[in-house]
This record gives sequence, structure tokens and C-alpha cells, in this order.
Amino acid sequence: MCGIVAYVGHREACPIVIKGLKRLEYRGYDSAGVALMNGSLDVYKKKGKVSELEAFIADKDTHATIGMGHTRWATHGEPNDANAHPHYSTSRNIAIIHNGIIENYATLKKHLISKGHTFQSETDSEVFINLIEDIRLDSKCTLVEAVRLALHEVVGAYAIVVLAKDAPNQLIAARKGSPLVLGIGQGEYFLASDATPIIEYTSDVVYLKDHEIAMIHDGELEIRSREDVKQTPYVQRLEMALEQIEKGGYEHFMLKEIYEQPRSILDSMRGRMVVESNQLIMSGLREFENKFVNADRIIIVACGTSWHAGLVAEYLIEDLARVPVEVEYASEFRYRNPIISERDIVIAISQSGETADTLAAIELAKSKGATIFGICNVVGSSIARATDAGAYTHAGPEIGVASTKAFTAQVTVLTLIAMIVGSKRGTLETTKLRQLMVELENIPAKVEQILKLDEEIEKISAQYKDATNFIYLGRGYNYPVALEGALKLKEISYIHAEGYPAAEMKHGPIALIDEHMPVVVIATKDSSYEKVVSNLQEVRARKGKVIAIVTEGDTTIPSMADHVIEVPETSEHLAPLLSVIPLQLLSYHIAVMRGCNVDQPRNLAKSVTVE
Ligand code: M6R
Repeated sequence: MCGIVAYVGHREACPIVIKGLKRLEYRGYDSAGVALMNGSLDVYKKKGKVSELEAFIADKDTHATIGMGHTRWATHGEPNDANAHPHYSTSRNIAIIHNGIIENYATLKKHLISKGHTFQSETDSEVFINLIEDIRLDSKCTLVEAVRLALHEVVGAYAIVVLAKDAPNQLIAARKGSPLVLGIGQGEYFLASDATPIIEYTSDVVYLKDHEIAMIHDGELEIRSREDVKQTPYVQRLEMALEQIEKGGYEHFMLKEIYEQPRSILDSMRGRMVVESNQLIMSGLREFENKFVNADRIIIVACGTSWHAGLVAEYLIEDLARVPVEVEYASEFRYRNPIISERDIVIAISQSGETADTLAAIELAKSKGATIFGICNVVGSSIARATDAGAYTHAGPEIGVASTKAFTAQVTVLTLIAMIVGSKRGTLETTKLRQLMVELENIPAKVEQILKLDEEIEKISAQYKDATNFIYLGRGYNYPVALEGALKLKEISYIHAEGYPAAEMKHGPIALIDEHMPVVVIATKDSSYEKVVSNLQEVRARKGKVIAIVTEGDTTIPSMADHVIEVPETSEHLAPLLSVIPLQLLSYHIAVMRGCNVDQPRNLAKSVTVE
């Protein structure tokens, strides 16, 4: 986590850095700080959000054309002013911003203390900058050389930017494991954890690779490997537009992103499905189609909401393509010595493409010879680059910490994969395939229709905003949706919520149900509908308050539920794409009514780059 941004050029650095930090604040918001170089190397930092830092520096002389900033998600040391970045070295001659974790920091720190270095914070990052200083002093080498040598000694993940008082026209950056994008403007350079702080100024970017060091010196860029070999930068054009990363009149990013779903679902299938000619095209899959067709097993690794999308895919792929699927929490998979063979395909799902646990699971599966297919939203992200092939979700930037449009985009792409593999394997007959394609094509319009229920859902939310617990029930394709609904509620409203397969309730959770317990039952018309109705009655009999998500025109459930939210009819394979929308809105409104920070919930960050 943590967001870093830096600038060197002909403009005032501070406003660019502060604005960039605001764009990156979704990555962490425990503290923020800037370092500006104008003769002196000045560091200003504060516990809390970027706006607090902004107020703090309002009366300071921040004039500088080179600077860097950091917004922190605390790993080592509590969120306070001292632990905020940037960190000075002992001499205060050099300063660092760092995103990542240095695993051997304790050993390094001990060694550096024995050599007279002093520390003001509990962070691993301050150890990093003192290590660079120590090497520079001992070897009497240049700053960039000291950085390069230090990279050989640190174990862990990092994206860093380093400034030195005695190298006034120089900015050095390096990465391993944590993302770093370099923007190239006219006589100016930008560095950031993702492209959002850069897009306003330039569309030409270089995604730094692991173990690369970028040095910008007197307006010239040079990239070298950790082994000191000169690299040729690969300059890419950003496809992102500025309005995609702004709120566009919505009160919160989360609400904007919920409303973007008709578009993001469409974008995720655009060019991949031609209904008229019954064609499915996924270029990332083409080369590996045979592997998918002949795979012994598909293992899906992911975390959080992406894991829920993976669960939906398990139902889809097993049903349509008849390939056995296992869905694994990436964090568990990597530590349990899993059995993986070369005939397995591992699908890694990640919105950010930076989730450390998912990346580690990929590396493990790769080492065992499996083919790795990535489904990521962020173009050029670490996971996208670590995989053998993949498909982007095209949901556009997702800024709200609670994942919404990324989920539906992932499910869309996974549906396409299941259909492609199913039709190639001959397990999905043409008529059925065609029906599904037509249904899928209609999903964006149906999502649009559900969004019109927003006010109604807001009214329901008002009645439950003070609840302390919630249960979500679903079966079949709607079981992962129940899990996702519960996750959405707990992460942004801090209400305890559990998602369960509806039939599991009688094996324990039913004991929780009384007249104070809201139970969200997802009971759309599918093959388990009758069973879910029975489960709903069991809740009713115990006086639970039922909020039911039903298919339009359902005449059975309204008499049994306290509230009914209707979604349009669709194939059960596609039900999650619709039934999740009311749950996103329900959690959004409850969180707003409880006064919670919807886009930046406590203790969370958008990309989880620590284990
Ligand atoms: O970027 P990823 O999809 O890999 O992130 C995985 C989870 O951290 C993420 O889905 C998290 O659970 C969200 N906050 C859920 O809304």
C-alpha cells in the first residue's frame, strides 16, 4: 500500500505532489508528507489525510521545482508524525519515500546503529535511507551508485524515490515488487505508484520493472538495472482519461463506480463477443486455448472481492465447460504446499494487479510449471506482467476502496472464458451458447434498470442503519453474491455481517436469528429458488427481518418478506451481475447514513501490497 509521487521539471513541484497524493490517497491515509528541494531539503509531514498536510504547509515556503510526497498505510510503527514519510537520513542530507516492506530491516538497523546512525521513527524505510547514506559515506560513491548497492542488501518489496541536498538536480527511483510509473513530459518527469497523478500532465509513461533504477539528472532520464546495465525504456501511451479518475458530480467514488457498471460491464465484453455471428474472441486466451481445453484442473487464486468473483467462476466453468475448478484464497494457497502440475491452469484475479498474496501465489504456481492466466483491471500492473497470458477487465480506474465495478467486470470476463472453453470443449451446445450471449449482451441495460431503484433501496437502508449484525443468504450462483454483499457492508459501514449458503444456516447461524436480525436473502428465480424460499421461511419463523432480492414479477416471496427488491430476469449463470447491484447500494447508503468514510474506510487500503 502507500502512495508515492514525485516531480522534477520547470513547474512548482508542491501543488503537483499534493494533488497527486490526493489521487493516491485510496492507497493509504494514515499520514502524508512531502520533501521539497530548493537549496535546502525540507520535509513536512503529518499524521492524517493529505488535506491535513496541505493545511500544515499552507504558510511554509514551498517553492521548489523538484519534490516528492507520500501517503501512508502503516505497516511498521503506528500512524504518527514521526513515522510519516519522507524520512531523512541521519545527516538529513538525503531523504526517501518508500512503498513496500523491508523484511531484513531489523538486522540492518542494528548494524547501522552500531555505526552511529540514529533513527527518529520505527519504520523500515528510515533504515533504507540510512543504509544508502552509510554506503555513500563508506564507498565515497555517487548517490545513484549508493542506491544501487543498497538494493542488493535489502530483502523485501519497495518502490522508492530518493532526493539529496548535494545533488540538487537529481531524482532517483527504483522498484521491486511495488509499482512505480514514470511519466515523461516536455522537460519534466513525474513518478507515481499509479498513473492517476500523471495523466493530467502527460500520456507517455514507462512502467518501471523490478530491479530497475531510474535516474533523472539535469533533465535527462537514464534507466539502469540493479546490475548497472543500461536499459532502454519502453514508453507506453496511457489510455486513461482524466474524468475517469474524478468524482464527476457524485458524492463518493463508490457511488460513481456503482453507477458506471452498465458501461464497465459493456466495456469488459466489448470486442470479445459478436452475438450476430456467434463469435467469442479473447486475444489473451487464444494462444492458450488448447491448454484450457485440455486442462486437468483450473485453480483460481485471489483475495477479497476478487475471490468472490472466482467463486462465481467456479460455478460457471464447472457448469459450462466441465473442467474441475478450485478457488483458493491466495494467502492460504501459497503456504500450504499445494499440489500443482503442468496440466493445471491458474487464474489469478486482481483489480489492482498488485495484491502481494496473489502475486506470491502466482510465483509459487509458476515454479511448479502451471500456466498462469491473469484477470486484472490495472493495465501494466505487477500481476498483469507476472502472468503467461491474461485478459484485462476494462472497468476503468476503481478508486473507492470497496470494490464494485471491478467485481462485475471480473464476472463478465470469467463468463466469457467459461463460454469460450465450454464451446471449444463441446460441453456448451451452440443454442445454449447463443442464449447466454444474448442474455449477457442485455445485462448492461438490466443493471441500468436496477440502478433506478436507488431511492427505494436508500429508504430500506434508513431502517437498518443502526443494526449491529446482518446475515446474507444465497445459494448456487447467488452464494458468492451473499458473501460479497456481507463484505461490502462490513468494510464500509463497520456493521458485522456474515454471508452464508442459505441451506447452511440450519447448521449453526440460525441460532443468531431473532427480531433484531436483518437477513438479506437473494432469491432470484433459478434452480434452487424453491429451496431458498424454504430457507427464507425458516428465517421468518424466527422473526428475522427479511430483505429479499427477487426476480421481477415474483408473487411468492413478497408475502414472506419485510422488503422486496426486484431485479430483472436473466439466466441463472448471469444472476450475480444483477443481484449484487442492490447489495452494493444497500451497503453504500447504510455507510453514508452512519457517517462513515465510504471511499476510504478505516484500516483499509485499495491495493494490499503487504502479506
Ligand atoms: O486488487 P485486488 O482485487 O487483488 O484486491 C483484493 C482485495 O484486497 C479487495 O477485493 C478487497 O477485498 C476490497 N476492499 C473489497 O471491496
